[in-house]
This record gives sequence, C-alpha cells and structure tokens, in this order.
Amino acid sequence: MVTKDEFRTAMADFATGVTIITTNDDQGQPHAMTANSFTSVCLEPPVVLVCVAHSTNTHQILADSGWFGVNILRQGQEEVGAYFARRPEDRTGGVDYSFSQGEDGLPILDDSMVYMGCQIIGSHIYGDHTIYLGEVKEIRKADVGTPLLFYKSRWYNPSGE
Ligand SMILES: Cc1cc2nc3c(=O)[nH]c(=O)nc-3n(C[C@H](O)[C@H](O)[C@H](O)COP(=O)(O)O)c2cc1C
Repeated sequence: MVTKDEFRTAMADFATGVTIITTNDDQGQPHAMTANSFTSVCLEPPVVLVCVAHSTNTHQILADSGWFGVNILRQGQEEVGAYFARRPEDRTGGVDYSFSQGEDGLPILDDSMVYMGCQIIGSHIYGDHTIYLGEVKEIRKADVGTPLLFYKSRWYNPSGE
C-alpha cells in the first residue's frame, strides 16, 4: 500500500513548470490559482488539461464558467506563484500583478511567458480532484524570460542565479 506521504515525496522528484489558472467568477471578477498539474493532451485539436482539487474555489468556478486561462510563469514570478497558491482570504501583502483581458473575456496575467485561453470540453472526477480538459482557443507568447520550475516542493532555478 502506497501512503499519501510516499506518493507526494515521489511526485516531488518530478520537476514541473508553474502556471496560474485564471477564470471569471459568478460576479465577473478575475479569479486565479497556482497549478502545476497542467499538461498537453493532444495536438489536433489543441487540448490541455489541469487537475483541480475539490477543496479549491477554482473547482466550482471552472465548472460554472466553462472556460479557463493558463498563464505560464517565468523565473522572477515566484512571489506571484506563492500568492495565488494561498486561499483568497490569505492573499495579503503587496504582490505586484495585473490582469488584462483575452479574446474570450478571460483574465490574462500580465508578464507571464505564455497565455492560453481554453474552453472546457470535458471533465473527469477522480478521487479528490477533477481533471478539466480545455480546447485552446487563443495563444499569446511573450518570448521573454525562462520558465519558473517547481522541484522537491520548492521553486527551482537550474542555473542557480
Ligand atoms: C507549485 C504549486 C502547484 C499547485 N498545483 C495545483 C494543482 O495543479 N491543482 C490544484 O488543485 N491545486 C494546486 N495547488 C494549490 C492551489 O494553488 C491552492 O490550493 C490555492 O489556494 C487554490 O486557490 P482557490 O481556492 O482560490 O482556487 C498548487 C500549489 C502550488 C504552490
């Protein structure tokens, strides 16, 4: 039997990029959360997925809105990543970020490396998470910076700078 801790420690050896998943809540206000469960699913059509815990606010907001944005963070955006990993009531302090709007009205996190606007085309509940599949409808690429990484439960910069 694999324990939760054993599984978590093993997965921590898998280095990932870091994204901010953006949506609009039922008041039309931007909502954002940090996620590293993002990956591509297929090329034709262009589909990605993100796994969202049922304990998050984002889970219900995605189910209601049917859309999400993926914003790939770059090195230097660690504070923004940490900020959106907290519950909204704990998001205090002077973190510098701003949103603009994508073609479909989704919030784009300014200064991220890549933005993808996605329409939810399927979902699958498994255990305490839902896998949301999104067809990519818009891409904006900044072509600046290098990606922020997450490894062994910390931000990671292989160049050590
Ligand atoms: C690096 C990192 C990656 C994360 N990835 C995910 C993820 O893929 N899915 C998820 O549900 N939560 C993930 N989280 C946790 C959420 O960001 C956190 O629960 C957040 O408070 C949810 O915000 P919300 O309740 O406003 O939606 C991650 C946190 C960190 C620090």
